[in-house]
This record gives sequence, structure tokens and C-alpha cells, in this order.
Amino acid sequence: MTAAPGDLGGSGDIPAPGAARPAGSASAAGSAPVSATQRVLPSEAGPAVGAHRRDPSVGWRTARWFDDRLGASRFVRSTLDKIFPDHWSFMLGEIALYSFVVLLVTGAYLTFFYVPSLRDVVYNGRYAPLRGLHMSEAYRSTIDLSFQVRAGLVMRQVHHWAAVVFIGAMVVHLARVFFTGAFRRPRELNWVVGIIMLILGIVNGFAGYSLPDDLLSGSGLRVAYSILESIPVGGTWLAFLIFGGPYPSESILSRLYVVHILLIPAVLVGLVGAHLAIMWHQKHTQFKGRGRTEENVVGVPMWPTFAAKSTGFMLVNAAVLSALGGLAQINPVWLYGPYQPAQVSSASQPDWYMGWLDGALRIFPNWEVHALGHSIGNVFFPGVLLPGITFGLLTAWPWLEARRSGDRATHHLLDRPRDAPVRTAMGVAAIVFYTVLFAAGGTDVLAVTVNVSENFIIWAARIAVLVLPPVSGLVTWRLCKELSASDAGRRRAPAAVVRTAAGGYATAAHTAARNGDSEHTGAVAAGSRDGGAEEGVAEEGSIEEGVAEGGVANEGVDRERDRATATITPGPDDLLR
Ligand code: HEM
Repeated sequence: MTAAPGDLGGSGDIPAPGAARPAGSASAAGSAPVSATQRVLPSEAGPAVGAHRRDPSVGWRTARWFDDRLGASRFVRSTLDKIFPDHWSFMLGEIALYSFVVLLVTGAYLTFFYVPSLRDVVYNGRYAPLRGLHMSEAYRSTIDLSFQVRAGLVMRQVHHWAAVVFIGAMVVHLARVFFTGAFRRPRELNWVVGIIMLILGIVNGFAGYSLPDDLLSGSGLRVAYSILESIPVGGTWLAFLIFGGPYPSESILSRLYVVHILLIPAVLVGLVGAHLAIMWHQKHTQFKGRGRTEENVVGVPMWPTFAAKSTGFMLVNAAVLSALGGLAQINPVWLYGPYQPAQVSSASQPDWYMGWLDGALRIFPNWEVHALGHSIGNVFFPGVLLPGITFGLLTAWPWLEARRSGDRATHHLLDRPRDAPVRTAMGVAAIVFYTVLFAAGGTDVLAVTVNVSENFIIWAARIAVLVLPPVSGLVTWRLCKELSASDAGRRRAPAAVVRTAAGGYATAAHTAARNGDSEHTGAVAAGSRDGGAEEGVAEEGSIEEGVAEGGVANEGVDRERDRATATITPGPDDLLR
């Protein structure tokens, strides 16, 4: 073998270009296998024998050094070729992820100035209305963060908005997964990971907004203490253990602080990693459509399309949260005043994700159970039992549904909500139930707004929470049935009322409607049939567009084997999308 002029060190270790071309090139055929140290990168190989070739750059050689040892390039290649289905609803999880990143960044900034201490101090800072008041050091540091620390207020507000959006995005993401049946086998595990993340997000949000020790958050902690105490047998002990003494304890803030900034975020980071890794391994689900089967994934490749879109989306997400933090006031703790255990103000609402629990506490009847020498306090039912049932049912849902339907098959194609009427009806009923509870969390505000007694609002909410969910569930179930029947062309033409020549009205028979005997009935029948057909066409059209557009790829000929077998067919539009 002859070394080409300009070869590295002229050692002769590197064979002539051509002999060491990557497999697949014509000149590679028949050449001896190339050992790891002999492998030549394309830039080293050069265009032709004898042509002048530049030394590879230091960066290139460093990358090669690492690759020789770690073999990372194969992984990187398969990663870059990974296919992501293109649907707007898949962005919901991304919003949650990117809001979490914003939480980590802004939270780190806040830790430089926030002091988690209940030591009594007298305020003497810039905010005149609070001057001379006794307060905890924690509250003072939050007021200072808001008025004295550079960018402190905007960071606090971005942090708070990010928390609100983070949990909101998780809930809507969960609803998307639920209504499309994406939790079915083999994704039950990721469903459970998601539920745990949601619970931890809610708990951490509560811990976070308790940190400033203002009048609002102090009242929330008081409620939390009572809920813990209401747990039969071990409740008092548990409340003591968590708070480190009777309420208000000395150590609760420093404990909440560690939980808030370290323990839960660390667990969340781990769970987010696990969630993404499982998704990566199992691949995305996708909506049904042309070219999409249980065996493949149709979408855009990770590089460059998805990476560019997702990075842009991350920046937009951060920009929106920053704009909210800069322009929309949230949690103005200086208006609430420092926490005093004996005080509570009207119009005290928690963050939205705690609203349903607050509402449940407000409207639950004053029932208490006394048995076997123990009492179960009234707050136990809405404060412990309700969230227990809520998250218990949510967690168990994939197995409950599989048991009811007998469907234990693997699913990679998503349902439309109408395809599963019972699931959709239950989901809608649940949403209505928690929305009513959420509204009940504002009984005092609603009473003032609509100028009726608070008792009236409480009773209205009690009735609504029992009546509206089953009614909305039934209506949804009926709608799903209608929609799927019209999809299948089985929907009966509705009876149509027509004007007779004499000026009266008559109901046209179905047969007349189907045959299009009258202009009106014809239109009705066509409307009902076309409705279904049109939808199918529209859907196909969009799918076709998706397939025809560049960058659409077909991955994973065999999901089970999950090889890097993506057959990617990038088109001209790929880079633009
Ligand atoms: C799941 C993640 C998180 C959620 C949901 C969350 C939520 C919140 C909320 C709602 C507040 C009240 C903000 C306000 O004053 O209006 C808060 C305060 C705070 N958070 Fe977080 N947070 C999270 C993660 C973090 C992390 C990772 C850190 C630190 C590295 C952090 C540090 C802080 C600090 C120091 C405060 C008190 C300062 C203040 O209230 O102004 N947070 N958090």
C-alpha cells in the first residue's frame, strides 16, 4: 500500500485512500478488513490518490479519539435519525419539559437571596407600607427579592409562572395521553412515571409558594397541617413528624426548603430522564392515517427538522414565560402581609393546581366518624380520601381499562376520542367534576361577584358536583357513538321538517331523506353522509400532505428489534419545516 502525500506523519499506517474508504464505496470492495486504528475519516481519505490533503483539525481528531474508545458515533447517528411524529398535541409534553428547565434556572437564582428562616425581624426596607412590622426573615427576604434585588421580582414571577405552566402542561399532556389511549400496552410504565411527576410537581408547587411565609401561604400550611392531623391513627404523629412540632413550628420552612430546592427537583430530573428514555425505547405513538401502521413511525427526523423545531419551541416557551413574569403580576406577597396564625384574609385562593382540593374542603358536608375510640375528622374525606382516590384511579387506569375491555394487545396507533366512548365519557365526567371543585375553591369570590350568599354558592356547587359529571359523561358517550357511526356511514339520516306547497309543515320520512326526494331532505341527508366522508377526506388530505412533504420518514421497520433502521426520505421542505 502506498501512502498518499500529506498523510498523517507519513507513517504508512494509513493506507492509501480508496483502500480504506468506508464500506460501500466501490474501492472498498475486496479490500482487507480495516482495523480500528486504521479507520480513515472521510476528510483524511481525500478525494483521490495523490491529491493534496489537509491534516484533520484538532477537533476532528479529538472526536475520533473519543469515538475510537467509546464508539459513540453509532449512537449519535441513530439518535440523529430518530423519527418524531408530527402532531401539535405532542408539544404539550415539551411545554412541561421546557418550563421545568426554566424553573431550575430561575429557582437557582432565587436561592442566592431567599432566607428560609422563621426568625422574627422588624422590616425596615424599601417598601414603605410594611416598615416597622414584625415578620419572619423568610418573608423579609422575599420582600427584598421583590424590591431590592436586581431582577429579583422578575425572577420570582417567571419562576411562579413557570410553575403554573409546568403543572398545567403536565395535566393537558396527561389528558391527551388519556383520550387517545396512548397509555395502553406497552406504555403503562410511562403513564405511571407521568402520574408520579404530576404529584411531585403539585407538592413542590405547594412547598414553593409556602416559602415566602406571607399571610396567604401561611394559611395554606395551616390547612395542610390539619389535613395531616385528620388521618386516622397516625395523623397527629405524622403532622408532628413533618412539621417538627405543633403548628406553627420553628423548622417547617427550612424543611420545606430542602424538599423544594433539592429533593423533589432531583427526583423529578431522574423521572424526566426515565420518562424520555422509556419513550425513546418504545418510540412515539402516532395517529392513524395513510402509511402509518403498528409497525412503523412516520414523522420527521431528529436532525435537523425536529431538533430545530424543538429548540425554537424551547426558546419561545422561555420567552413567553419571561414576558409573563415581566408583565403579568403573580403572587404579590407584599400586599398580603406577613403570616399571623390568628389571621386569614378573604379572597385567599391557592395556585390553580390546588384549587380543586380547596374547593372540595369548602363544600364537603360537616361529617365526622367516631368509631373504635378514634375519630375521623371532616377534612379527611376531601383532603386525604379524594386525592387518594383521584391519583389511585389515575394510576390504575391502564389496567382497569384493559380488564374491562379485554384488550391487552400492544398499541402504537392512537385512538380518536370517539373510538373509545366509555373512556372518553369517563374522562369528560372527571374533567367536569374537578372543574366544579375548582370553581368551588372560589366560593367567597363568587359570592361577592354574583352578589348572593356564600351558602347559596356552596349548595349550588354541592349539587353541581353530583349532577354535572354524569350528565356530561352521558352526553359525551352519546356524541362519541354518533360520531363513530357517522364515520362508518351507519348514522341514520335525521328526520327533517319540510315546508309543503300549501304552506304547512311536514316531517319527511327517512327514506325520502335518503332518496333526496325533496330539496331540503336531500340536503340534510347529504349533509349527514358527507359530514363523515368529508372528514375522512380532510384527514387523508392532511396525511397525504404529511407524506408528500419533505422530511417525512418511516422508521423502525421492526419496532421490537428497534434497530437504527430508519429509512429517511428527506425532501426539499425538510429544512424549512
Ligand atoms: C417542580 C419544580 C418547581 C416548582 C413547581 C416550583 C414552584 C415554586 C413556586 C410556586 C414558588 C413561589 C414563588 C413566589 O414567590 O411567588 C417557588 C419559590 C421558590 N423556589 Fe421553586 N419551584 C420548583 C423548583 C425549584 C428549584 C429547582 C429551585 C432551586 C434550585 C427553587 C427555588 C425556589 C426558591 C428559593 C423559592 C422562594 C423564593 C420566593 O418565593 O420568592 N424552586 N417555587
